[in-house]
Amino acid sequence: MTLTIRQLRALEILDSRGNPTLAVEAQLSDGTTAPAQVPSGASTGRHEAVELRDGGTRYAGKGVRKAVANVNDILSGALEGADAEDRAALDRKMIELDGTSNKSRLGANAILGVSCAVARAVARAHKVPLWQSLAGARTAALPVPMINILSGGWHAGHNIEFQDFLIIPHGFDSLAEALEASVAIHRQVFLLCRDRGLTLTGVADEGGWGPLLSTNEEALQLLTEAIGSTGFRPGEQVSIAIDVASSHFFSEGEYHLKTEGRSLTAAGMIALLRDWCVRYPVVSLEDPLHEDDWGNWPELTAALGGVRQIIGDDFLTTNPARLRQAIQQRAANSVLVKMNQIGSLSETFEVLDEALAAGWTAVVSARSGETEDSFLADLAVASACGQIKIGSVTRSERLAKYNRLLEIEARWRLPYTGGKLRFISR
Ligand code: PGA
Ligand code: ZN
Repeated sequence: MTLTIRQLRALEILDSRGNPTLAVEAQLSDGTTAPAQVPSGASTGRHEAVELRDGGTRYAGKGVRKAVANVNDILSGALEGADAEDRAALDRKMIELDGTSNKSRLGANAILGVSCAVARAVARAHKVPLWQSLAGARTAALPVPMINILSGGWHAGHNIEFQDFLIIPHGFDSLAEALEASVAIHRQVFLLCRDRGLTLTGVADEGGWGPLLSTNEEALQLLTEAIGSTGFRPGEQVSIAIDVASSHFFSEGEYHLKTEGRSLTAAGMIALLRDWCVRYPVVSLEDPLHEDDWGNWPELTAALGGVRQIIGDDFLTTNPARLRQAIQQRAANSVLVKMNQIGSLSETFEVLDEALAAGWTAVVSARSGETEDSFLADLAVASACGQIKIGSVTRSERLAKYNRLLEIEARWRLPYTGGKLRFISR
């Protein structure tokens, strides 16, 4: 019996920053229902699909009633009777109905909500876990987490310019052990900040600490010290990743490090990052250069990409066309995968599968504005991409995903990617 869509219903809910977003419920022909909630970024890339917002004064213009109406009044009727299991055809139909190149008419938030709710309903109808239903012929595996410990930029009131200083706890045999180590390191950084007289009044948007540091490099010093003093071997068990998010402090050809009172050219950024990779256990760099600097990305990748992971987030925006161009130009060697940057599940899988087939790595990622939906935990497992970036180990919108991964590890005992990450050379 073919499972078809009977009805789609959306409503406006709030994300982890108190901004409106969508919840969508899909009902299938056999009566099965399932929900999905849509995340939202703050340090967004210019080339992302359009998150439809109402404008006006409600929620300072951030309401999503138009996107909700697009699900209830347009998509529900147009997709009634459509094959719920043909993910590609379903997404294609929504893209056609939207009719724009960036999903700006119906909204990437509306389309993604439908795409995910239908996928979850299909899994429920077949009584299989979401990761298994999503995986299809892929061999599912548990990812290594990339965990935010110190935050800067847009996520922490611009205390420093670089956005995330994260750990990759790769030297453990299970996800549960990796998370235990990560919680210990997160706490240790708090104590080190306190010892240095740095004030911490709460956590940043993704649950990391956001102290007022005098330089960006101080974050690396703190983090390396915390890994060691917690009893782990920096570089062997736990390494460092940086999300530079450099487009957000770039203007007129330079990267402006206001806290340090200096500006760097692209060559200066490459030199700085190369130096950090030598002096600290840094193995992964995200958005080290501006999102449209196609000229310098290949140069940076040639300089550092042999042994380091060079991730495009704002640079590639989970966009199959941008990914293909970057693969061709050797402009990076890894892609950050955020479902709402492109706005449909099938295009998200297209990016994941093409990146892995090209020998790249891929990191499934949350947004800084999140919900309690844990869909992306199942997505990371299903794609077997090997890495997931959710934020820190505090705040329940983050923990919803970690806890789902812990459940998947305990119940289904899938293989854990652990120390098998290619760019870990130590
Ligand atoms: P965003 O940040 O969700 O605010 O875009 C996350 C990231 O840059 O990785
Ligand atoms: Zn990023």
